Amino acid sequence: MLIMEWNPALEVGIDEMDKDHRILFELLIRTQDASDAGDRGEAMAVLKELAGYTEWHFAREEALMERHGYEFAAEHREEHQRLARQVGHMMTDLDHGHIVPHDIATFLQRWLIGHIAGADRHVGEAIARSRQKAALR
Ligand SMILES: [Fe+2]
Repeated sequence: MLIMEWNPALEVGIDEMDKDHRILFELLIRTQDASDAGDRGEAMAVLKELAGYTEWHFAREEALMERHGYEFAAEHREEHQRLARQVGHMMTDLDHGHIVPHDIATFLQRWLIGHIAGADRHVGEAIARSRQKAALR
């Protein structure tokens, strides 16, 4: 599957989140390109960067949810953790040579699109409401 570029339709309206999501998409495309070019060293390096950034982004999003008292923060965190476990399993498959970095990028992008359009959009709306309320105070 070909990785798509970032689509502004996926924006959730919260700058920190949208910026992170855009960076994640860039790293996904770089992983795919290196993997397709047969440059395993580069693909693995970008994949590592991608995994690190994903972890950092999840923590930032979770802190944002806490700060705004988001009511579904626990469920959302659970979604993040489930993804981290799935990617962990795929990394083992990668080590065994059963899959290539492109496969992980494809899986992660598919997951991200669904997650952003669902759970993250909901977070974005709640934070926007919370910020609006704070501004009116
Ligand atoms: Fe999220």
